Amino acid sequence: MLPHAPRAKQDPHAVPERSDFEADVLAGFAATPKRIPPKYFYDTEGSRLFEAITRQPEYYPTRTETGILKAKARELAGIVPANPALIEFGSGACTKVRILCDAVPGLAAFVPVDISGPFLNQHAAELGKAYPRLAIHPVAADFTKPFSLPPAVRDLSKTGFFPGSTIGNFEPEEAAAFLRLVRDVLGAHAFLVVGVDLVKDEATLDVAYNDAAGITAKFNLNLLRRINRELQGGFDLGAFRHRAFFNSARSRIEMHLVSAKEQTVAVAGRSFSFAAGESIHTENSYKYSLDSFAALARHSGWAAHAAWTDPDRLFSVHVLRAV
Ligand code: AVJ
Repeated sequence: MLPHAPRAKQDPHAVPERSDFEADVLAGFAATPKRIPPKYFYDTEGSRLFEAITRQPEYYPTRTETGILKAKARELAGIVPANPALIEFGSGACTKVRILCDAVPGLAAFVPVDISGPFLNQHAAELGKAYPRLAIHPVAADFTKPFSLPPAVRDLSKTGFFPGSTIGNFEPEEAAAFLRLVRDVLGAHAFLVVGVDLVKDEATLDVAYNDAAGITAKFNLNLLRRINRELQGGFDLGAFRHRAFFNSARSRIEMHLVSAKEQTVAVAGRSFSFAAGESIHTENSYKYSLDSFAALARHSGWAAHAAWTDPDRLFSVHVLRAV
């Protein structure tokens, strides 16, 4: 079921249904080591903080990808079929799609898919003002689960757009499963444009996730604020520290929230103990080489059509064709 789909009428005396967020947090805190899936970063405040991260000087991915997309937009327009529907997974503020809207002539429709419903609708409406002739069909959904496209785009040729290296949040096997899911949602003859962060020197990676202004730390800690608000949590945000580092053996940035002391915290009527120095693992951000990502795509129902990078080889944009 899509998160925005109406729920069946409930018995007013029934225990309220447990949200996915609650179930995932309780399960994640019962696990060793403790963890929270990164998709829960993006409540309204978290989405706003992420946009702020993308403007930090150390966070190179967003501006580098934007540069690649701008440089290659004409070439991309020549690869994808005419008058396609563009489907963006995790559309956020609908910023990057503007580059494609400007470059792909006769874009027939745009389907932004995002887990943050209010944020999605607000930004879809803003995009509509800038592109009044574009048919926009927002879908509030968790795109890691199967969902169907709006009927209005069913007969159009489809190009998927998955920028920002969001794919790096998945374990490599999950990334493969996601690519297969997208292949099924978009159908035969589809294209997929996907942004993938590249492996590089550790120092560059390290500062990108430890910005001097502390915005990434706020973004990480906002998860605890969200738990406090939505799951009756008792976290003291001053008693946890942001930690991010490159795990080179697994080719990923890891983000953690580290307990500064021994403490017990209530969440949704349960209590969880944290040892001093114990961490909650909140995110992995996998970094690929051009070849390792192309190989992953080939194993997941796609042919590698093109791959572009910036001159410093910080970031890559792959164009895949459904097989
Ligand atoms: C949105 C998943 C691509 O991994 O770089 C930014 C999220 N986390 N800073 C990333 C993020 C910390 C971002 N992605």
